[in-house]
Amino acid sequence: MASPLILVSNRGPVTFQPGGEVKRGTGGLVTALIGLATHRDVTWIASAMTPEDADTASRHGGRAFPVRAPGGGEYMVKLVASDPQAYERFYNITANPMLWFIQHYLWDLSNAPDIRRNETEAFEFGYNVVNEDLARAVLEEIEGLEHPVVMSHDYHLYTLPALVRQARPDAFLHHFVHIPWSQSDSWRVLPSMIREELYHGILANDIIGFHTRHYRSNFLQCCDDLLGLEVDYGRGAVQLEDREVWVRHYPLPIDARAVQEVARRERTLAFEEELLRRRREFMILRVDRADLSKNVLRGFNAFDLFLEQHPEFRERVSFIAQLMPSRTDVPEYTEYLERIEAVVAVVNHRHGSPDWMPIQLKLRDDLEEAVAAYKHYDVLMVNAMFDGMNLVAKEGPMVNERAGVSILSENTGAHEELGEYALSVNPFDIQELSDSIHAALTMPLAERRERLEGLRRVITSRDPGDWIDEQLGDIAGKDGLTRGVVQAREA
Ligand code: F6P
Repeated sequence: MASPLILVSNRGPVTFQPGGEVKRGTGGLVTALIGLATHRDVTWIASAMTPEDADTASRHGGRAFPVRAPGGGEYMVKLVASDPQAYERFYNITANPMLWFIQHYLWDLSNAPDIRRNETEAFEFGYNVVNEDLARAVLEEIEGLEHPVVMSHDYHLYTLPALVRQARPDAFLHHFVHIPWSQSDSWRVLPSMIREELYHGILANDIIGFHTRHYRSNFLQCCDDLLGLEVDYGRGAVQLEDREVWVRHYPLPIDARAVQEVARRERTLAFEEELLRRRREFMILRVDRADLSKNVLRGFNAFDLFLEQHPEFRERVSFIAQLMPSRTDVPEYTEYLERIEAVVAVVNHRHGSPDWMPIQLKLRDDLEEAVAAYKHYDVLMVNAMFDGMNLVAKEGPMVNERAGVSILSENTGAHEELGEYALSVNPFDIQELSDSIHAALTMPLAERRERLEGLRRVITSRDPGDWIDEQLGDIAGKDGLTRGVVQAREA
């Protein structure tokens, strides 16, 4: 009999707000998994992230309940409430900033991090506790199922697979990491005991997936360098005593039709009208979470330099930055937001005039507003220092109507696919970024069109269904077992 596929991630597809409002979870992970959940028989286990999530979970007696997908269809969600203090240590100390900063090379090592009891205890009594809670929920869900398949996601859940493996050696465990896998020395920040526990945890999987070939090879190198394991770089395999772990890359596509549907919504059209009323001759756009990895400050500094070196563009170009505040309980993130606001004030003061504000900062998460801006940018700036994939780089070109040019950091996962048709930049090179703004704004229309068409060709060459099928295909290939879940085709 076919059994549901078990997905497990920290952030779930919905969060419940005070007053009963239900919000869709944000970010690339949620977008990817909603695609999967709507096409397969899925139970999605996630952390209860708000007090209202915890109430909803307890109203359902801790069991899975049905949730309607925005594009139709229904899937089951099980929200797991952890002890609030443990969750706070898990999310705000170990996952962010510690692991996130390691995997995006964000630590300024001569200053931070200091590893003290605060950090080691956050791992032991925070990270591990939440992983145990979610592992318990997985085990409950797969009880009685023959040969279940569990797909866990991201850097929040590295120790969970070992817990599931121990209790259910017959389960097939697959893990997808949505962020970069950094090179081995970056991991030496962690005390060796913590590092070994994390690697032991993730290596309990049968298959580990990444967005790019590069992260895959970094992971293999880490297993070799840090753990002395036998690694087959060609086949992408790590040999453990009794089993082999496959390491693969599956670049995440976007659902192009879904973005086009948002572009047609009434609310999007209203934002568009307003935008067109106020627009200058040229528009540069960025849409990001306000995350240090996104390199927002260098983006503004490059714009500052551009205006200084090309005064003929003054009053003719605006830079719209739609940034969604994120992880605001982590001091590094609140400080970053303050620095963003300060740099914007300086650039606007330096170059602005009474009726022209060079940078418009919009600190909010509004999909329709972002998509309205996607339609009309001349330049899309994606200059992340390091970024697992970056879906903005894929969404923008799908709906842009001005033959807009993409400036794309060579350190984003998306660059492995889109680099050929974008203006590639080294995200640390402010002069290069400024020159790219100039190149984009002065590029002949024919070249802009050609590049945009090239981007669209690559972006639409695979869809989220392919991403899922590639992974399920590998599960079937490695396993040799006919697991019901793998056979279940799209409805
Ligand atoms: O893969 C990284 C990721 O999980 C993305 O899905 C998303 O952009 C971001 O992190 C969300 O972070 P958080 O769940 O902390 O808001």
